[in-house]
Amino acid sequence: IVIALGLIIAAYLLGSVSFAVVVSRLMGLADPRSFGSRNPGATNVLRSGNKTAAALTLLGDAAKGWLAVFAAGLVVAQQGLSPAITAACAVAVFLGHVYPVFLRFKGGKGVATALGVLLAVSPWLALATAATWLIVAYAMRYSSLAAILAAIFAPLYYLLGGNVAWVLDKSMAAAIIVISVLLVYRHQANISRLMQGKESRIGDKNKNKN
Ligand code: G3P
Repeated sequence: IVIALGLIIAAYLLGSVSFAVVVSRLMGLADPRSFGSRNPGATNVLRSGNKTAAALTLLGDAAKGWLAVFAAGLVVAQQGLSPAITAACAVAVFLGHVYPVFLRFKGGKGVATALGVLLAVSPWLALATAATWLIVAYAMRYSSLAAILAAIFAPLYYLLGGNVAWVLDKSMAAAIIVISVLLVYRHQANISRLMQGKESRIGDKNKNKN
């Protein structure tokens, strides 16, 4: 139980590191919480006009999701613990990103972090989900809509693929569903902007103000 709690807390703290804020600060850019959608995430960092900063944010936020689940999986296997602990770490790192202790619990929407989590669960799952995101993003040019649709499909891919390509773990299925529901919930403002036709498209700079 001590190891389990330690892993979950470590995952949460790791998730709490917002790469949008860290990268922007290190690169001397404006705080992403001060412009655009005010969301500390890669999409909003892109609205600063700096593609490198956006890519580094995406990479960092995805890497922490991957690392939390990958490391937890290793410890769980080594210690013969329940796979539910790995699933709990998946939720914890996501919660850290969305409600970070370091940013007074005002974090991002969790898209990149969720993708990192999926990558640790299965590269195929991450690939299918990322492809869904890319197809919608390319066709519609809305990062938020792409994320919402990818989040709806990810649990389905896990359940489907679990029967074919990997061993389906019920606790991980539950974790992915929780993450997806929260991710869509965090996009409320985007959903109302999308319905009003006011959502900014990928490539537009600095438009939508909450
Ligand atoms: O990565 C979050 C994305 O789906 C939406 O971000 O800044 O347009 O609210 P944003």
